[in-house]
Amino acid sequence: MPIRSTSLRFALLIILALLIPGCGAPLTKENPAPILTPSANLTTASTQKPLTAPALPADSVNLKLPEPRLKSEVSLEEALYQRRSIREYANSPLKLNDVSQLLWAAQGITDSSNGGRTAPSAVAIYPLEIYLVAGNVESLAPGIYRYIPEGHQLSKIKDGDLRADLGTQSTIKQAAIDIVIVANYKKVPERFGSNSTKWVYLESGHVAQNICLQATALNLGTVTIGGFSEEQVKNLLGIAADMGVLYVLPVGNRT
Ligand SMILES: Cc1cc2nc3c(=O)[nH]c(=O)nc-3n(C[C@H](O)[C@H](O)[C@H](O)COP(=O)(O)O)c2cc1C
Repeated sequence: MPIRSTSLRFALLIILALLIPGCGAPLTKENPAPILTPSANLTTASTQKPLTAPALPADSVNLKLPEPRLKSEVSLEEALYQRRSIREYANSPLKLNDVSQLLWAAQGITDSSNGGRTAPSAVAIYPLEIYLVAGNVESLAPGIYRYIPEGHQLSKIKDGDLRADLGTQSTIKQAAIDIVIVANYKKVPERFGSNSTKWVYLESGHVAQNICLQATALNLGTVTIGGFSEEQVKNLLGIAADMGVLYVLPVGNRT
């Protein structure tokens, strides 16, 4: 039966508010606002993809990386304060643990329930791929590898020390490794419209900054390099012409 009286409707609302726990009560320390978990947050839940590893060449060799650490002697504030572009490196090998940590900082998975990563991504599509051009790393053969966030592993693409083929700037050749940020534009949905490229570039900046801060916290030197031949790097990595190469970050031990 419809409730016609306004005062009766109001009284019913009050009774409902008192019956539902937390509803209507003021937000206090003892009665905080409910925390939305990622799966309860519709914007996130409806857009994030299930964890699926990307397609790899059939003959690729995978290498599981050491687990990243979540604690450090260096605070975030110290890393922000100390970060500088460093272009001279010692001629000594990088530890595999440090390489693992840098790749994790770039694109590591930090939420196994939905594939959330260390860097934000527009609508969580994760269009970036991370390549490692390794020249001087303990327990890792020189070569080109692709970082696979799922399972925190490397997939070998090419053998040999190919740092010198990556670019002309001396930092690229001198660093123990070069981390390359690649854009897979095919993953960007059409509905992004005129924002497509901008959002991929913005995401690349997040990833590069993560690498810079992680390198600083590990007492390593790095610099963000935009000056290279995109065609040359694409050929070296063996990636499709419609992909983009956005950044090269050489990393080495400090002199
Ligand atoms: C988009 C971009 C491209 C850059 N390209 C190069 C580069 O090709 N070579 C280089 O040595 N440094 C490059 N840099 C680093 C800048 O020169 C450096 O950040 C700037 O001099 C400020 O110094 P700082 O990083 O120590 O604060 C680049 C930085 C940005 C943001």
